[in-house]
Amino acid sequence: MTAVTAFSENPVPALPRARPEPCVMVIFGASGDLTKRKLIPALYELFLDKQLPKCFRIVGFARSENSAEEFRSHLRDSVREFGRKVFDEKEWAKFAEIIDYHQGDYTDPAAYASLKKRLEEMECGCSVGDNRLFYLATPPSLYETVIGNLHGEKLVYPKKETDSWSRVIIEKPFGRDLDSARELNSFVRARLHENQIYRIDHYLGKETVQNILVFRFANAIFEPLWNRNHIDHVQITAAEKIGVEGRGSFYDEAGVIRDFLQNHLFEVMSLIAMEQPVSFQADPIRDEKVKVLRSLHRQFDDEIAENVVAGRYDGYLDVKGVKPDSRTPTYAALKVMIDNWRWQGVPFYLRAGKSLVSRVTEVNIHFRRIPFCLFGQEEVCQRLEPNVLTIRIQPDEGIRLRFGCKTPGDNLAVSPVLMDFNYAEAFGRETPEAYARLLIDAMRGDQTLFSRSDAVEHAWTYITPILRKLESGLPLHGYKTGSDGPVEAAQLLGKDGRAWDRIVPDKL
Ligand code: BG6
Repeated sequence: MTAVTAFSENPVPALPRARPEPCVMVIFGASGDLTKRKLIPALYELFLDKQLPKCFRIVGFARSENSAEEFRSHLRDSVREFGRKVFDEKEWAKFAEIIDYHQGDYTDPAAYASLKKRLEEMECGCSVGDNRLFYLATPPSLYETVIGNLHGEKLVYPKKETDSWSRVIIEKPFGRDLDSARELNSFVRARLHENQIYRIDHYLGKETVQNILVFRFANAIFEPLWNRNHIDHVQITAAEKIGVEGRGSFYDEAGVIRDFLQNHLFEVMSLIAMEQPVSFQADPIRDEKVKVLRSLHRQFDDEIAENVVAGRYDGYLDVKGVKPDSRTPTYAALKVMIDNWRWQGVPFYLRAGKSLVSRVTEVNIHFRRIPFCLFGQEEVCQRLEPNVLTIRIQPDEGIRLRFGCKTPGDNLAVSPVLMDFNYAEAFGRETPEAYARLLIDAMRGDQTLFSRSDAVEHAWTYITPILRKLESGLPLHGYKTGSDGPVEAAQLLGKDGRAWDRIVPDKL
């Protein structure tokens, strides 16, 4: 392995980022899993790093009859369990002072009216002003109810009526299919301006996912090769070791295609496949991503059966909350073609699944074979493996290039070797938590890492026929927990004369 040096640990930021303005953040679904596992630990991390606005308050909104004290103590346990930094009792006590709780029924306008009053009267030794960030961490079925009430009670401001801002973060999945996504988009856009809507996909907050564009466009040597002339195919894998854990009823409604492919993997694919944006601003980047989604080759019914493999891990039906007659996939592999000049004829193979051999998310760019083998002997030539560039999103975040090298010695022999960059080794610190980055961006009003309405709809346009085909009997193949998915997935590449990259359990 080759060591990589970070030449400057604290380079001058290309895009300096200001501390956000004072604001209050209201979390709907405050007693749920997302709040305790991700949102509060991320906010606590931001607090420790002094990145939160100078004046900031958090209000949890949920149905449960909790006092603010009970709510804080419940969050304290979550931060101890799920936080990434060493828990510090004194710091926590300071952080807890900015947390409040508001009990209410999501469907009851009076609960929003009293929330409004509370926000208006909020005192915390400093002025949070009227800036408001609302986070919808509720089940998706409540999105319209909450947004309708926020609008009805004027908790969100119509655009340009005031200098203060109000923004709404909406968790994925945004809709269940194309029709419901369109409906939700039109409901939300009738009440909020697009620049107030933050459709969150936490994959975009991952440092390694953000680095895809920097890697592609801050280096001169990769981009000339980034096309059909040099790339044979691309594999994008998101394997999880965990099963659906305690989320049986949520997951059974969603399945891997709605929970992972339509959003996380399509976002990563768009960043890999997009053209160079005209600038590094939110809309130019999002414009280019949308073009990729618009160029996806639409599949006829019989093509879907050829290009999609769905699976379910053994034992899934025994999970609490899963319906006995469930047909929800926990694994899916897709062959996706992009109809444009850059990618014509280059398959993108995507796979995601739960209960697999290990937790790995990575992109493997497989380059073409050399056009002619110089080394004469059949044995040598057969051992020449094509170059592969691996972008490792997690864990062991890094980038690796495989190339052929002469094995030392008198005889001519060639072996594949790896050139390897690892974030932790190069920069000596862990990559930041994705939710922390996205929350701070939403407070700043930076939408670059959030999905725009057209992108969400284009992704559903491609995915919805696959969901329909699943409902009408696309086979659901079983696979063993701890395996690399259903054996049938191998045929997806096998029939093209290719093979999946091994899901490597540990370090690269
Ligand atoms: C979530 C999905 O969006 O992402 C979960 O709902 C999944 O099912 C999770 O486990 C994976 O996130 P990460 O950051 O651990 O890869």
